[in-house]
Amino acid sequence: MAILVTGGAGYIGSHTCIELLNAGHEIIVVDNFYNSKPDVLKRIRKITQRDFISKEIDIQDKDELEKVFIDHSIEAVIHFAGLKAVGESVQNPLRYYETNVNGTLVLCNLMAKYDVKRMVFSSSATVYGNPDQVPITEDSPLRATNPYGWSKLMVEQILTDLAASDKEWSISSLRYFNPIGAHASGEIGEDPQGIPNNLMPFITQVAIGKMNQLKVFGGNYDTSDGTGVRDYIHVVDLAQGHLRALEKIQKISGFHAYNLGTGKGYSVLEIKEAFEEAAGMKIPYSIVERRPGDIAVCYADPAKAKEELNWEAAKGIKEMCADAWRWQRKSFKG
Ligand code: NAD
Ligand code: UD1
Repeated sequence: MAILVTGGAGYIGSHTCIELLNAGHEIIVVDNFYNSKPDVLKRIRKITQRDFISKEIDIQDKDELEKVFIDHSIEAVIHFAGLKAVGESVQNPLRYYETNVNGTLVLCNLMAKYDVKRMVFSSSATVYGNPDQVPITEDSPLRATNPYGWSKLMVEQILTDLAASDKEWSISSLRYFNPIGAHASGEIGEDPQGIPNNLMPFITQVAIGKMNQLKVFGGNYDTSDGTGVRDYIHVVDLAQGHLRALEKIQKISGFHAYNLGTGKGYSVLEIKEAFEEAAGMKIPYSIVERRPGDIAVCYADPAKAKEELNWEAAKGIKEMCADAWRWQRKSFKG
């Protein structure tokens, strides 16, 4: 029996594949390489010294995806495939709803047809919008402020209804906070196309000389140093959270949401300083206007994941910065 990993060549998916293979699971990766490269799969094989089946398939292509269910015995699905750029989702909402919502519907219909009723879904802290209070617990109000966020909320609703309709379904929705860092080998990491939207890839690109300076979006938030605070989590910790969720869905049924974060918030300037220490260099920066749609503070209460999944983040900010920097240097050289 294998675990089907959609979007397994992407940033979080690739790290999760490594953890799954290292734990002895059989996996099948399905990805259309819209935001990743096939080479990542070779690197996963190299790191783990394990082979696995991979298919270039768009999850919206029902016929191609169905062949995977016909040809293989699948015990559960970890569903990463989707689009994730907030700004792009505002420019092209239909594409986001098609991929994230319709893609999930195609997948769920096939899962139902072939009696595969266990899923771990990639949700996001974005489902809390601008939270009323921090740390954020799973029962905080859910809201969205952009099509990307709506697509995650809609999928959570669909999965909730699905699980309520049939007790055989067991679904864990993992609400990721801010994943950063890379595998310690330096072989895989986050590989954004064009100018990075997110903080850590931007910092590492300044460090490598691809960007001139970091623009800090806003210096007058109500935080200790005026810059935005987030819950950064090492991508390998996050990947391990999927294994714990996979164990959980074998044992219980229904829809369950979990925050995957560290529970600690760091400001933009604190991250910049931690990176400077890890890389032994200064990062030039200037404070500019706030980025529209940004919130001041966001960090998780990860107690539910600890209690119910027996999972908690182990890696600290130093390791996140050191691993992100190792990956950036190695990938820049090719
Ligand atoms: P990513 O873009 O690196 O990985 C997504 C993968 O899905 C890519 O390999 C891409 O090629 C693939 N994909 C996209 N559309 C597809 C389709 N139609 N068919 C098949 N494959 C397709 O992103 P990531 O950071 O690894 O994120 C994985 C999931 O986690 C996404 O659903 C994302 O929304 C969610 N998430 C990410 C973050 C984050 O900060 N990285 C935070 C919260 C939630
Ligand atoms: C972003 C997404 C969010 C997603 C999350 C997960 C947006 C608006 N939100 O959140 O939907 O769930 O990633 O990873 O894209 N910053 C700078 N300069 C930069 C880049 C970022 O100062 O060049 C600041 C931001 O203002 C923020 C912090 O760094 O305070 C983190 O930003 P980012 O990495 O983009 O993540 P989020 O905004 O938390």
